[in-house]
Amino acid sequence: MKLPFTTLALAFAASTLAQYDNESPPFNLVLLSADEKVNGSTLSACHSGAGISSLCLSNGNSTSAPSPQPVATFHFNTSTIPQPASPGSTPGFLSYDVPTSTTPIPSTLDFFVDPITNFALPLFYPGNEGRTLAFDDQDLLNVQGYVDYGVNPPKSGDWVAYYRWFSCTTYYMAYEYVNVVWGLGVGEPETPDCVKVEVKRVIV
Ligand SMILES: *[C@@H]1O[C@H](CO)[C@@H](O)[C@H](O)[C@H]1NC(C)=O
Ligand SMILES: *[C@@H]1O[C@H](CO)[C@@H](O)[C@H](O)[C@H]1NC(C)=O
Ligand SMILES: *[C@@H]1O[C@H](CO)[C@@H](O)[C@H](O)[C@H]1NC(C)=O
Repeated sequence: MKLPFTTLALAFAASTLAQYDNESPPFNLVLLSADEKVNGSTLSACHSGAGISSLCLSNGNSTSAPSPQPVATFHFNTSTIPQPASPGSTPGFLSYDVPTSTTPIPSTLDFFVDPITNFALPLFYPGNEGRTLAFDDQDLLNVQGYVDYGVNPPKSGDWVAYYRWFSCTTYYMAYEYVNVVWGLGVGEPETPDCVKVEVKRVIV
């Protein structure tokens, strides 16, 4: 369907107006999984470059984090202007304050994509801009979309919540961690150790 200009203009106006300045109380992120080694794991922020952190498993026991990492607290910023979303989900930005010897550096989650593989690596980058994510009414983190790519031709429809999170050993800029990743499309990431997980927020 070709969207009429007015729809696009309104969508653009809405996204420009959206100020994600409604900050949640701090929370931890915990994994739920059918794999009992991963189920209940807490998440940490693992150093992955200057001001950059990944969403790693606190007890990931990886080359770059062989000992347990401190459990991280995160915030979720929503907009006072309602954003399009599936029923029961609220969109916003996931943020993390990187500790320094002085003032913490605010950082926001985005997806790093290496086009040769089939998952995105969520990374916190310095600043207030990132990827819009959502929590549903069960406090599960999801990504929202309104295009069905599984039919020919693909078509737009209602907003749907997707839960394509996995725990995988990853390599990024010489850092090797067990991180939460996002599967691109249906199916599992290609790295053999990947385990399906859900990401749940638990208010501290
Ligand atoms: C979240 O909201 C707080 C308070 O309004 C603001 O200081 C911060 O910059 C916001 N963060 C993001 C990622 O928008
Ligand atoms: C995962 O942990 C949760 C909370 O501790 C528990 O309720 C659930 O039964 C566990 N699931 C599995 C498959 O072990
Ligand atoms: C961490 O991984 C190493 C290498 O695989 C292994 O030898 C060690 O026992 C692991 N430690 C824990 C606490 O699981």
